[in-house]
Amino acid sequence: MSALVEKMNQALGLELRAINMYAHYAAYVKGMYRLQLEPLFQSEATESMVHAATIRNAIVKHGGICGTERDSNPITHTEDYRVMLQSALDTEIKAAEAYGELMEMLDEIEDRELYDSVEQIYLTELRSVEEMRMLLN
Ligand SMILES: [Fe+2]
Repeated sequence: MSALVEKMNQALGLELRAINMYAHYAAYVKGMYRLQLEPLFQSEATESMVHAATIRNAIVKHGGICGTERDSNPITHTEDYRVMLQSALDTEIKAAEAYGELMEMLDEIEDRELYDSVEQIYLTELRSVEEMRMLLN
């Protein structure tokens, strides 16, 4: 497997994990916070699904095989919304890192089209990082 496909599969695994994590937290978030956090977690799950689809198409385009397993980092079960937000923050930081590294690789091989779509994903991950930080403050 090429290093590029490997990196894209790492990103895909992170998205698959994020889909599970956000869907799980959307189901368990309780109390008054549920009003805001349930829709937030649902939309993060959907966003991760869209990112996963983009990365899958990119792997196919580069002749690779898409992974089907999620990143193995455990998903902490909790009903404490602060623990959920902290896990979300950690998840988004990891995703932003992976996409940053992927952008460097795409810059080297000069795949501008894919670079641009990965940059869009990268920017949404950074926005999520800031959002989770603000919510935890
Ligand atoms: Fe994402």
